[in-house]
Amino acid sequence: MKLAADEERMLAGEFGPGVQRAIELLVAVGEAYEAEKMIDISSSHILSPEMQFWNTGQLSHWAQELVAESVEGAESFRVPVTINPIFLEPKVAERLGYPESYIEEMRQSLAYGMETYGRLGVIPTYTCCPFYVYPLRYGEHTGGAESLVVLFNNSVLGVRVNRESGPTALATALTGKTPLYGMHLPENRHGQALIELKDDLDPRSFTYADYNALSYYVGKRVVDKIPVFLGLPQNVSITQLKYLSAPLGVSAGIPMFHAVGITPEAPTVEAALGGKKAEMTVEVGKEEINITFEELCSATEPRINYVFLGCPHVTITEMKEIATLLQGKKVKPDVLFVVGTAEPIRLLAQEMRLVDIIQDSGAMVVSGMCSAGSFLRRGVPKGFKAGVVATNSAKAAHYLKVSGVQVWFGTMQKCITAAIRGTWEVV
Ligand code: F3S
Repeated sequence: MKLAADEERMLAGEFGPGVQRAIELLVAVGEAYEAEKMIDISSSHILSPEMQFWNTGQLSHWAQELVAESVEGAESFRVPVTINPIFLEPKVAERLGYPESYIEEMRQSLAYGMETYGRLGVIPTYTCCPFYVYPLRYGEHTGGAESLVVLFNNSVLGVRVNRESGPTALATALTGKTPLYGMHLPENRHGQALIELKDDLDPRSFTYADYNALSYYVGKRVVDKIPVFLGLPQNVSITQLKYLSAPLGVSAGIPMFHAVGITPEAPTVEAALGGKKAEMTVEVGKEEINITFEELCSATEPRINYVFLGCPHVTITEMKEIATLLQGKKVKPDVLFVVGTAEPIRLLAQEMRLVDIIQDSGAMVVSGMCSAGSFLRRGVPKGFKAGVVATNSAKAAHYLKVSGVQVWFGTMQKCITAAIRGTWEVV
């Protein structure tokens, strides 16, 4: 791999051991992908502190050492860096019944991680939707992890970013570099699979959960091919596109999709496919959407005790919708209802008195937390073993299912009704 003068100096340790180790990792990745050179990135998005600091795995040790060396060398991130949510807010962990020792351990590692990243200059977004607060420009090259961020940035914004791991994202942040391969090259950004909606499906009446189900189903069918959605409404909103993006990150391993007439690299089908023929066509109708709703539910009993909305973090539009549905209502006392978002959105919602309406009902508005990740990281808490969760997120439902949690997947409206009644309406 051809390295520029500053990259050679990083490799020689001139910028300290942290940067040296980071560039070594990126060179190894670049060589594995036969990248001809490194490129400068304009920003990066790294994973939450627990990913690096609250884990006994080898990668975690590597990242801890890397960050410690960087901090000792008084280095800072070389580009603006945003950060993903933490896995569990201590006050939510308490309500979920995690043991005090566990909550204390989490508190300490979080405090250490946040302080350390703070010293390196992170922008403390703590959200999987950094696009709410740190805007990016079409065509920018960035580094970063978190499948939703990668999918949304590549597809909806036309930003160029590979689906990186926690350590490589951190390495891009410390060096401001990434190897030139994958999604950074225009020829790898073309669609390969056409997604056609059958006549019995009217996307103009899609709920967020329908967008989720469409995306989840398509991901399972295309596996590693970039899908090109046809027939979605031209006025599709950013909130709807967020729900179209997220499930593709768990039901498939792809970093990008196109929606013809909507996403910036797909003004036409031909442009989306790069002038080539599609390798496959997937048809989706009512039956496929209904099957996906059923597939995402693993619960067998209607009683629920945890409802969460906000995977990915809710927009201000959703916050308003949730407040409208909850106005004057009360959540059943034994149900924990969490609405997850980014802190700037929570502040806006507070200003608009939406937080008051939601919290008056007994629900909690929590910023900076990934609701779905907690169970994945540490399993189901002991006191929660009879717990049943309801959510409108296919990504969360997928994670919860694989963590062995009983889950109901449905619309926002259905989740809110379930929170008020304490039971899921099984039809
Ligand atoms: Fe965000 Fe966590 Fe869901 S990072 S997309 S809330 S799984």
